[in-house]
Amino acid sequence: MKNKGIVLAAGDGKRMNSKIPKIMHKISGFTIISHVVRAVLGSGINDIAVIISDENNNQLINELRNQLPDCNIEFILQHRRLGTGHAVMQARRYIENSENTLILCGDIPLISSKTLKDLIDIHEKHQECDSTILCAQICDPTGYGRIIFVPDSQDGYMQKIERIRKIERIRKIERIIEEKDATPTQKLINTVNSGIYVFKSEKLLMALSNIDNNNAQNEYYLTDTIDKINNVQSVNVENSEEIFGVNDRDQLYKITKIMNFQNIDCHMSSGVTFVDINTTYIDCNVEIGIDTIIQPGCHIKTGSKIGSNCNIGPNTTIENCEIGNDCFIEHSVLRSSKIGNKSIIGPFAYLRPACDIKENVKIGSFVEVKNSNIDNYTKIPHLSYIGDADIGQKVNFGCGSIVVNYDGSKKYRSRIDDFSFIGSNSNLVSPVHLESNCFVAAGSTITQDIPKNSLAIARSRQINKKDWVK
Ligand code: UD1
Ligand code: MG
Repeated sequence: MKNKGIVLAAGDGKRMNSKIPKIMHKISGFTIISHVVRAVLGSGINDIAVIISDENNNQLINELRNQLPDCNIEFILQHRRLGTGHAVMQARRYIENSENTLILCGDIPLISSKTLKDLIDIHEKHQECDSTILCAQICDPTGYGRIIFVPDSQDGYMQKIERIRKIERIRKIERIIEEKDATPTQKLINTVNSGIYVFKSEKLLMALSNIDNNNAQNEYYLTDTIDKINNVQSVNVENSEEIFGVNDRDQLYKITKIMNFQNIDCHMSSGVTFVDINTTYIDCNVEIGIDTIIQPGCHIKTGSKIGSNCNIGPNTTIENCEIGNDCFIEHSVLRSSKIGNKSIIGPFAYLRPACDIKENVKIGSFVEVKNSNIDNYTKIPHLSYIGDADIGQKVNFGCGSIVVNYDGSKKYRSRIDDFSFIGSNSNLVSPVHLESNCFVAAGSTITQDIPKNSLAIARSRQINKKDWVK
């Protein structure tokens, strides 16, 4: 009998005013729902069901399967949204053979694996409890369900136990009252339901059969199961930011900032320098080596690995790249490429996907490279386009030289071997092969292969017409 997790994600997220389902919006490189599912996986629960609606199903299923390919996720449809209790009812068969069920909302991307694991541990430690709820004390409890605690005991022995439990941040709960059903006095309570619970599965199933929708919203509330269960305890979350939900664009912005600062903090502690954290964005799943400096205006996107002692930025976007040590990258955009040690990129370079740039290479200003391999010590310093090319070592591209890879319908590849020199403003019309140590005269348009050690001139001879201007 294992523990199982249920993530509630069938809500419509109207307040986002978006064509994209709320939980599919991205924060720090991942969808909101995948942050939540990852946190559940990290807490030690491997069987997870996500409750989805008819509208968000295909996109959500594909996205989660892509982002978490090894994970065992079941998707359960809730055809009509009749409340959080009704959503869990759809998963009855899924939880039947489990011991405990962890339930949480799909729109709280800051929740950590540690908090979930602690909650499960406390629940398992207090075997007498049928449910354990994560609560928070917040200044403005508007919108949240309020926690009504069991009044403190008058009995001396029980008082002693209660004191010990309070040190462990645990209190007994009588019931949860939703904002819309609360009296003005109940609304003053500022201990709120985070929407994260662990239930003994058997007790949860029993309680679910006994709830109704006689309330202000005519919904089947999951929170109504609490007063159908005998022994419910609360645990206070240490950092209440963790339970913040994304319901509108303002919350999306604030949570993005919080997660970004958390990521930056983490890299700072491991030895990375950030010049301006307010204009820098570091997604989740990014590695940066020690003593690398990240200048203002950089966005390092998910899947990127940057070595040590690099200078990145200012104003640089790096997405899914592997960058070696001692690299200098300035004012550039790099996507899905590899850059070896001690290479210099930019200012104002654009590396499109599938470039393999080796060590000590220079890709200079206003140079675009796509799907090309560039070997050690090669220099492409200014105003070039290199598309679909394999370039050897110590090749020098003069200013404005271009590998012409596209004839309007097909793409072709070219090969330029070691030590070749490409004069400024030359066109290498693909497919061509320049053998090693070639020299292309400036302004040439090369359409044929060049044997090694040769000079190629492919331009018309200059004629000077004396006094023509006069
Ligand atoms: C819920 C809790 C409230 C708690 C708050 C924490 C209930 C009745 N109330 O309120 O006590 O303080 O969360 O954020 O549970 N969903 C479905 N199907 C439905 C309805 C909702 O899957 O039919 C999902 C939503 O996608 C969302 C989650 O359940 O992820 C919570 O639903 P929501 O309507 O936001 O509940 P709250 O009113 O916020
Ligand atoms: Mg909500």
